[in-house]
Amino acid sequence: MSREDTVKNLVWQHTQVASTERHALLRQLPVTLWMTGLSGAGKSTLAFALEKRLTELGHACFVLDGDNVRHGLNRDLGFSPEARTENIRRIAEVAKLMNAAGLIVITSFISPYRSDRQMAEEIIGHERFREIHISTALQHCEQRDPKGLYQKARAGLIPEFTGISAPYEPPLAACLSLDTSVSSLEVCTDGLLEVMRPFLQKAPLSEPLENMRG
Ligand code: ADX
Repeated sequence: MSREDTVKNLVWQHTQVASTERHALLRQLPVTLWMTGLSGAGKSTLAFALEKRLTELGHACFVLDGDNVRHGLNRDLGFSPEARTENIRRIAEVAKLMNAAGLIVITSFISPYRSDRQMAEEIIGHERFREIHISTALQHCEQRDPKGLYQKARAGLIPEFTGISAPYEPPLAACLSLDTSVSSLEVCTDGLLEVMRPFLQKAPLSEPLENMRG
């Protein structure tokens, strides 16, 4: 059965909980902070530091991290361009569901292709998607090499390694760019919190968020 045929036999089921109720309950608006950058750029460190800060401030949030998600949900995916697209598509769908539940989502994926990040933005919704470029240069990432993967990639042991044998397309219009070789963890998390500020409002929404049906 084709995908179109399957979809024909599906009927959307509606929640009785309005997004305004979730807002009142959680006292925050859902957003997905989409971090993109090379392996070793500092995405995960920043994502988990921000998650900690937000939790201490009383916000419900969760990090979706490349290495972690590839241990479970996406364990069947490799690093070909097609597999990376599917990786990002699934993550974006998960982020969308988490946002629908009212959560703040912070993602940490290389997501090297502009078209994939654009797809993620379309899935999640433009109004809830904020792209952050962790712009730390390849030279620094390779010097750090926290997982020893650049060394392996240079030795030809890891095919299609981003920055070495596979491309990375930097964002053209990220709402924030952070270079962790220049700025401290504190300065970077402060910058991220600033981007989040409009979503951390405590007052109830004046206009309900549009239906999450997608
Ligand atoms: S993405 O390109 O599909 O977005 P993702 O963020 O999920 O990648 O996973 C990247 C992590 O997988 C890296 O931080 C690294 O630990 C590991 N990894 C293993 N093989 C590769 C590879 N060929 N290219 C990039 N990262 C790889």
